[in-house]
Amino acid sequence: MSAQVETAQDNSARPVKLAPSILSCDFAHLADEMGAIAGADWAHVDVMDGMFVPNISFGLPILAAARRASNLPLDVHLMIERPERYLKDFAAAGADSLTVHVESTPHVHRAVQQIRELGKRAGVTLNPGTPLEAVRPLLGDVDLVLVMSVNPGFGGQKFIPASLERVRTLRRWLDEMGSDAELQVDGGVSSTNARAVVSAGATVLVAGSAVFGPGGAKAGLERLREALK
Ligand code: DX5
Ligand code: ZN
Repeated sequence: MSAQVETAQDNSARPVKLAPSILSCDFAHLADEMGAIAGADWAHVDVMDGMFVPNISFGLPILAAARRASNLPLDVHLMIERPERYLKDFAAAGADSLTVHVESTPHVHRAVQQIRELGKRAGVTLNPGTPLEAVRPLLGDVDLVLVMSVNPGFGGQKFIPASLERVRTLRRWLDEMGSDAELQVDGGVSSTNARAVVSAGATVLVAGSAVFGPGGAKAGLERLREALK
């Protein structure tokens, strides 16, 4: 038998969406920052409550302001305890998709149902230390699965390399089911690893510090797009 070289499958056939995280933007100039990312596909909105994660970011008024300043779909990532308490409010404030953590509520399936009932895209996510099996029962009922590639709570952290294998596994599960749910990756994504993340099977890349860095968000977004060519 001839020796075989094991090479990771390239799963990058699908169109890729870029979703800058406004967590890293200059909030004194939110409308300008939303304008600078007008060429993105979605804007990612990180809501943190200081309980589920050790940091507080912002909530409904900032989401509503982003909504007024931009026509981009607003992709809201809820890092809050018991997110079901606020789904209606975030939908009303302008969210187009709402993503909840499996660790944040004992009733994550109910939360997903509620998001769908609100007419929004339903997303589910999990921390880097949570086994992927935790999202498996939900895959048939969601529009988006988010792989956290850092521990949630802060922008500007280093990409956890083991996340790539998690993306590959989820890609395989979704493909086997014939699901066209988006597979999103969030945390430490930059022009140096974007290609690898897409090859693993991601369809949406979230990037905060890599977009809203020196030189402005427009250039940051362009750098990411170039890296994917
Ligand atoms: C982390 C947030 C991320 C974060 C990404 O808790 O969910 O969306 O803002 O920031 P970067 O791209 O800087 O890692
Ligand atoms: Zn996020």
